Amino acid sequence: MSATLTRTWRQVAARVREQRDYGEGFRWLELDVPADFAAPVPGQFVQLLLDPPSPVLLPRPMSVAAAVKRGSRLTLGFLYAPVGTGTRALAQLEPGASLWVTGPLGCGYPLERPGTAVLVAGGRGVAPLLMAADALARQRRACEFVFGARTRALLIGLADARERLAKRGGRLHVATDDGSRGFRGDVVQLLDSLAPGLAKPLVIHACGPHGMLGAIARWALANRAEAWLAMESVMACGTGVCRGCPLPRSAEARDRVIARGADAAALQGNPEFAMCCTDGPVFEAHDLDWDRVE
Ligand SMILES: Cc1cc2nc3c(=O)[nH]c(=O)nc-3n(C[C@H](O)[C@H](O)[C@H](O)COP(=O)(O)OP(=O)(O)OC[C@H]3O[C@@H](n4cnc5c(N)ncnc54)[C@H](O)[C@@H]3O)c2cc1C
Ligand code: FES
Repeated sequence: MSATLTRTWRQVAARVREQRDYGEGFRWLELDVPADFAAPVPGQFVQLLLDPPSPVLLPRPMSVAAAVKRGSRLTLGFLYAPVGTGTRALAQLEPGASLWVTGPLGCGYPLERPGTAVLVAGGRGVAPLLMAADALARQRRACEFVFGARTRALLIGLADARERLAKRGGRLHVATDDGSRGFRGDVVQLLDSLAPGLAKPLVIHACGPHGMLGAIARWALANRAEAWLAMESVMACGTGVCRGCPLPRSAEARDRVIARGADAAALQGNPEFAMCCTDGPVFEAHDLDWDRVE
């Protein structure tokens, strides 16, 4: 099963509308792009390319955390951590600065899947999932929102999450490993304790560190729940060309690719690997070999 590839991408000139601290070293960035840029769906990403002179040659992938139409512009929001050369340079951009945005890229969450929507966020994964909660509310569907971190300081934007979910009929469940806020334990343990009280089938949409996503995938596979996981990889092109963002396919996903025939295999390269940028970044739990995901 693969997630929904919704629209085609293009590259546009963008301007910084706002950039501010979001706490715990994270940044909130808003970029204005032309209104005819296709509105990304939750789970999709864009490539951000800095104007020259830039310390990095390649664009950097970033999940879209908000998309709001404003007259002749579309404003895209991002929650990010300045971790290296490119993202630190991004953090220096002032309102009015220009850069390039390519997107929307990849497959978003299939929010139309029937069942109880359970959104599971770890750390900065909260941002795209709040966008998903907004999209579900527009379909008049509530969600169970499970938000976890090691400790309460790392529940980034918790107050914002609480306020937005309250307005949209979503139920927030918080977990910290050290018990400093909410349930003591990780999001999978919290999910396990919540699941008996939720109407089936469960459709999990998750974003966070790969270790957390692997644990959710294993839980979903063992409990016959559907789970859609937003993965990351170091990327160059973001469009399926460079074959530089491989993730290990499960045996069943590999066999599906092989069954499509020699032409498909030639087009898609080594059937052992999915490309994070075009086959994902949102993958269903059955699609990847979680023992080999790093
Ligand atoms: C689909 C997708 C969505 C993403 N969404 C977000 C987001 O919403 N917010 C956010 O803060 N970051 C996000 N990232 C990660 C972000 O792209 C990287 O942090 C960024 O590319 C690092 O660039 P840099 O030049 O600052 O770091 P570099 O100087 O290139 O590298 C610094 C360190 O970060 C590591 N790194 C680089 N890329 C990644 C990656 N993709 N995953 C893990 N480690 C990486 C490098 O190995 C190195 O150790 C996303 C990545 C992908 C693939
Ligand atoms: S980043 Fe080039 S194929 Fe995925």
